[in-house]
Amino acid sequence: MLTGFNHLHSALRWVLLAVLVWTVIRAIIGRRTEGTAFSAQQAKLGLITMILMHTQLLLGLALYMMKMGDLSRFFTMEHPMIMVLAIVAGTFGHILTKKAEGDQAKWRKQSTWMSIALLLVLAGIPWPFLAGFEAYGWF
Ligand code: HEM
Repeated sequence: MLTGFNHLHSALRWVLLAVLVWTVIRAIIGRRTEGTAFSAQQAKLGLITMILMHTQLLLGLALYMMKMGDLSRFFTMEHPMIMVLAIVAGTFGHILTKKAEGDQAKWRKQSTWMSIALLLVLAGIPWPFLAGFEAYGWF
């Protein structure tokens, strides 16, 4: 079960990154193109991003519990803290966008908060090309 959760948590990063990057690119284009309507499809992208992040949170918490005592400092401190901040930003990115009045305000909220979430996710991943994380795979 531990191995399954590990693989799932690792592989899901790519699904999350793909959807998050797509959401951010579309939000930035929408924000820069005056008069573009904020579509239901774009709102759905934000929702899917948030759901994927919350799924990663649950999987991460499960891994954290199962591996407790067996984790390096990075996985007990930095990784969970950075990712929780990313998940908060992604959640804001969905909720504040939903509450914003007008297309331009929605584009602005979504592009800002989802960009912050993306930068944090990229910073918190134990990429195998970083010193000390060579043992962690790409999938
Ligand atoms: C957006 C959210 C997150 C992403 C994209 C993410 C991504 C990753 C990745 C890529 C790995 C390496 C997996 C491997 O190659 O074996 C990993 C490991 C791990 N993550 Fe996350 N993570 C996220 C959130 C969290 C959170 C919130 C927690 C804890 C509360 C957490 C706890 C862990 C633990 C315990 C490991 C396993 C370390 C080990 O096997 O030595 N993750 N995560």
